[in-house]
Amino acid sequence: MTSWLPQISDREGPRYRAIADALAEDVGHGRLGPGTRLPTHRDLAYQLGVTVGTITRAYAEAERRGLVGGEVGRGTFVRGAPEKAPATEPFWQPPSEPSVINLAVCLPHSPGVEQAIASAVASLAESGRLGNLLGYSPHGGLPAHRAAGAQWLARQHRAIGAPEQIVVTLGAQNAMAVAFAAIARAGDTIVTERLTYHGMKAVASTLGLQLEGVAIDEHGLIPEHFEQVCRRSAPRALYTVPTLHNPTAAISPVERRAEIVEIARHYDVTIVEDDVFGFLAPNAPPPIQTMAPDITVYLTSLSKSIAAGLRVGYLLAPLSVIPRVEAAMRALQYSAPPLLAELASRWILDGSADRFAQTQRTEALARQALARDLLPPATVGGDAAAQHLWLNLPEPWRREDFVHELRRRGVSVTGADAFVVGRVSAPHAVRLGLCMPRSREELAHGLGIIAATLDTHVGAGLMMV
Ligand SMILES: Cc1ncc(COP(=O)(O)O)c(C=O)c1O
Repeated sequence: MTSWLPQISDREGPRYRAIADALAEDVGHGRLGPGTRLPTHRDLAYQLGVTVGTITRAYAEAERRGLVGGEVGRGTFVRGAPEKAPATEPFWQPPSEPSVINLAVCLPHSPGVEQAIASAVASLAESGRLGNLLGYSPHGGLPAHRAAGAQWLARQHRAIGAPEQIVVTLGAQNAMAVAFAAIARAGDTIVTERLTYHGMKAVASTLGLQLEGVAIDEHGLIPEHFEQVCRRSAPRALYTVPTLHNPTAAISPVERRAEIVEIARHYDVTIVEDDVFGFLAPNAPPPIQTMAPDITVYLTSLSKSIAAGLRVGYLLAPLSVIPRVEAAMRALQYSAPPLLAELASRWILDGSADRFAQTQRTEALARQALARDLLPPATVGGDAAAQHLWLNLPEPWRREDFVHELRRRGVSVTGADAFVVGRVSAPHAVRLGLCMPRSREELAHGLGIIAATLDTHVGAGLMMV
C-alpha cells in the first residue's frame, strides 16, 4: 500500500473534490502507477485531518472519473490508463448541469470544422510535408503562413499589411500578451474602454500594467475623455475593440476613429486594435489600422470565424515593431505551432475559411433577429451583426440579482462586473453570448426565459429574502 498524501491545502472547492483532483494529477503525472493500492479511508482521513466520509466521497469521485477501482476487502487501486482519455473540462465549458442554457460565453459553433480538420490532416500526411512542420519554425511563423495571414486579414478584416509585418500567434489572447510584452514595460499605463474584454485585464495583471478606463457610449470610446486621460496619465498605449466591442457590441463610427487616431498621435500613444469580431461586420468602418498603420498594432484570430481550439491568430504591426514582437514570441512560446498554422493557411488558400466565416455571419444575424424578436426593444444594445448582445436591464433589476435569478431558472449569462476596468461601478446590464447554444431552438428557449424574467420585476427585492 502506498503512503500517498495529496497536497490539498491550496486547492479550492470541497475537500473531497480537492482530493480527487490531486489524485487525478498524480495519476496523470505517473506519480501513482496502475495497480497502486491507495491508503485506507481511515488512514488518509487521519493524515489529512478530514472525516472518513470525505475520503469515501473522494474515492467515489475518483472511481466515477475512471481513475481508481475498489475491491471489497482488498482496498482501492489505481486503474491502468483509461482506453479513451476522459474529456477534460476547460474553464469556459458550459456549466456541468446539461440543463443550463449557456449564454455566458462568446463561442460560436462551427458546423463542418471537425470534418475539415480530419481531411486536412489526412491530406497533409499524404502530401509528405508533415515532417517539415514538426520542427522549430521562425518566431514570427513560416513565410507561407505569414503570407496566408496577410491574405486573410485583407480579405475578411480589411486590415492591410505585408507578410513580413505579420506574426502568427496562438489566438488573439496570445497576440495581446505578445503585443504588450513588446511595446510596454511593467508600470506603464494602458488605457482601454471602461468596459473591456476581461482577457485584457488578465494581460495587464500578468505584465504589471496599469489599466485606466475611458468612458464609452453606444458608439464606443468617447474621444474627449480619451484625450483627458492622455493628458492626465501619459499612457503608453490604447487597447481598443472598435468593431463589435466586447461586451457592448458597439461599432465606433469612422469620425470617432479618426479623432482617436489624432489624439493618439498627439500624445504619442500606440494603438493596439483588437479586431476578433471584425469579419462579422463588413459594413463597419475599416480598422483603425488602415488609418494609422504606423502607430497601430492590430490583432485578430480565427476563434470566432472557425474554431477557438485551433488557437491561430495574427498580429500585424509596423515593420519597426516586428523585431520586438518576435522577441516577445520567442520568450513566451518560441512560435505558434506550425502544424495548426498550416491547417489554417490551407483553408485560407482554398476558400474553406471564407465559407466558415460566412456561416458565422449568417448565424449571428439569424440569432440576433431571434433575440430582437423575443426581447423588449429598449433592453437590446449593440450592433445586430454581433455574436453577442448587450442587455440593458430595466428598473428595478440589478445586474447581480438578474444573473442570479436567471441562473436559478437555468440560463447563465455574464454580468457587467466582469468587464469593468478599475473601481467604477458597473452598469446594470449583462452580456448574452448568442452563438454558444447548439441550436437556434435552444437559444430561443433561453431568450424566452430571459424575457419572462425581465417581466417579473422582482429584482430589487431578491437580495433581501
Ligand atoms: C475582444 C476579444 N479579444 C480576444 C479574445 C481572445 O480570442 P482568442 O480565442 O483568439 O484568444 C476574445 C475572446 O472572446 C475577445 O472577445
